[in-house]
Amino acid sequence: MSIIPIVTLPDEKTLREVSKPVETVDAQVRKLWDDMLETMYHAPGIGLAAIQIGVPRRLLVIDLSKEDEEKQPLFVANPEITWSSEIQSDYEEGCLSIPEYYEMVTRPAEIRLRYLDRQGEPREMHATGLMATCLQHEIDHLNGVLFIDHISRLKRDRVLKKFQKAQKLGKL
Ligand code: NI
Repeated sequence: MSIIPIVTLPDEKTLREVSKPVETVDAQVRKLWDDMLETMYHAPGIGLAAIQIGVPRRLLVIDLSKEDEEKQPLFVANPEITWSSEIQSDYEEGCLSIPEYYEMVTRPAEIRLRYLDRQGEPREMHATGLMATCLQHEIDHLNGVLFIDHISRLKRDRVLKKFQKAQKLGKL
């Protein structure tokens, strides 16, 4: 496994790309998942989409386990949300591609999901709480959407400018 540099703002060219489904879950996909997982643990973070390491494939890793708990990695390929609850919930979100920025985001509180697991087997999941939020955040990445797209335009523009300025000053 290797740790791979995470793509951050202001690189919207990469982060806005729409990722393509994987055809099969093979050794190459599993290797990529392992690298994503190690990169995510190292960051540290609770979710990562392949595009965040520059690979435009519909692959995610998530692990919501706490520091003192046993690791519980979830490997997801080609996820599709098949149902979202009308009830919404608010979470303060952050993103490894938008370091040190956190904001409240409102999303459906529960979702149902269809995806392929690490063996390439089709699976269905009902997710609630933080898992529902995290999955929606990561699936957004596969469609080139960032969590700052769910907040006010004023706040979003401010964040984008901050990262553009930091890059110009050579601080990224
Ligand atoms: Ni993110």
